[in-house]
Amino acid sequence: MSHDLPEGITPVQLAVIESVAPNWRHDPYRSYDVLRAAGPFVPGPMDTQLVPRYREADLIMQNPDWSHAEESELLHPDSEVELPGSFLWMEPPDHTRLRGLVSKAFTVRTVENLRGRTEQVVADLMDKMLAQGSDGTVDLLEALAYPLPLTMVCELLGVPAEAHEHVRQMSSGIARGLDPDLLLSPEELAARTKAVHQFTEFFTELLAQRRKQPADDLITRLVQAEAEGARMSPTELLGTLLILVVAGHETTVNLIGNGVLALIRNPDQFAALKADPDLAAPAADEVLRYDAPVHLTTRTARKEITVSGRTFAPGESVIVLFGSANRDPEAFVDADRLDLTRYAAGKRANRHLSFGLGLHYCIGAPLARLEMETALRAIATRVSAFELPQDPPPYRPNLVVRGMSELHVRVVPQEQSR
Ligand code: HEM
Repeated sequence: MSHDLPEGITPVQLAVIESVAPNWRHDPYRSYDVLRAAGPFVPGPMDTQLVPRYREADLIMQNPDWSHAEESELLHPDSEVELPGSFLWMEPPDHTRLRGLVSKAFTVRTVENLRGRTEQVVADLMDKMLAQGSDGTVDLLEALAYPLPLTMVCELLGVPAEAHEHVRQMSSGIARGLDPDLLLSPEELAARTKAVHQFTEFFTELLAQRRKQPADDLITRLVQAEAEGARMSPTELLGTLLILVVAGHETTVNLIGNGVLALIRNPDQFAALKADPDLAAPAADEVLRYDAPVHLTTRTARKEITVSGRTFAPGESVIVLFGSANRDPEAFVDADRLDLTRYAAGKRANRHLSFGLGLHYCIGAPLARLEMETALRAIATRVSAFELPQDPPPYRPNLVVRGMSELHVRVVPQEQSR
């Protein structure tokens, strides 16, 4: 950070502000360096403590005495509508019951069955992308990063193709609304309310259709679970769909976008991937570490807990900065370097925290990895080079799910290369 400090503000306070400020979304990493150097805990907004280092982030995420059910009021006091309760914000036994109803659809083995379909979707999108625009310029987010995860999650659930775009619009309004209310404009709060109403209306209708006419999809299986007795209430069913749709694609969009941007900025790594497309699988994890799609989460102490010498009273909240922990030089060799072989077989590297850890570990991790691996493999074999006219590209204001609003690139197809 090279600019002058505003009067009365310390470098650490400035880093706290910049780590949440929308005009710093393109590079929160220098602020994270300052926060990590300041200590394991740094006073954050709303009486929270920021957790910028890997060690404490890892400990807190693994400890079920840190709850994820109690921050809703703190983060969303202005919510006019109840976001339908999703198990992301629940504790056992409700969390265990509801997660158990969908977990089978997301195991590594079940997801492996989607490999062929994922390759087909990627191939079709690549065909269109490479044929687009006389000068080869495309918005990579529109051409690949959005449609891939949206198609996959909608097909898995059983949302008809003509409604995919509607689902995208609704979930985008909801995703921004996941940020603390404090950071949202009145328009964004109103957009969230509207999006939640639309979501409820759309899926209530689709659920009614599936009750009458079952199909071979996840929505039908959830409807059946609801019908079998007290396994899932109608509100819980909507909450489960909401988290699957929003978490299922808003995040992966940014993984693909951030990943391609990282490759463009690190041509040696792009060249390594092109030379060995089998690097695509470990590369997916390295990109997750290097530029995490979900930058933070919150936790609240359920009882007195001591972490690294600091004692938290029950009810005290922390903001765990995944994006910062993933770049902690105490946990990763050359933490600021993109190294696509970091997670290659036989290598030893700490796990990244981009899918969280513990009770709420991302249920969609195998699907996200499959989508990213497939996209990277296709890029490695079909794209000769990307040119980036604007660096950094524009970012969305979103804090929790951080990513670009567009990524215009000129794509040079493989065939044209000399
Ligand atoms: C790159 C893509 C993704 C990233 C970075 C990501 C990240 C995360 C993180 C960090 C959490 C934990 C949040 C916390 O503990 O506070 C989480 C939970 C979750 N994710 Fe993902 N996610 C991704 C893709 C997906 C996909 C594809 C799906 C489903 C189709 C999904 C569904 C979920 C669900 C349901 C939870 C809640 C799990 C629970 O509470 O038990 N995610 N995700």
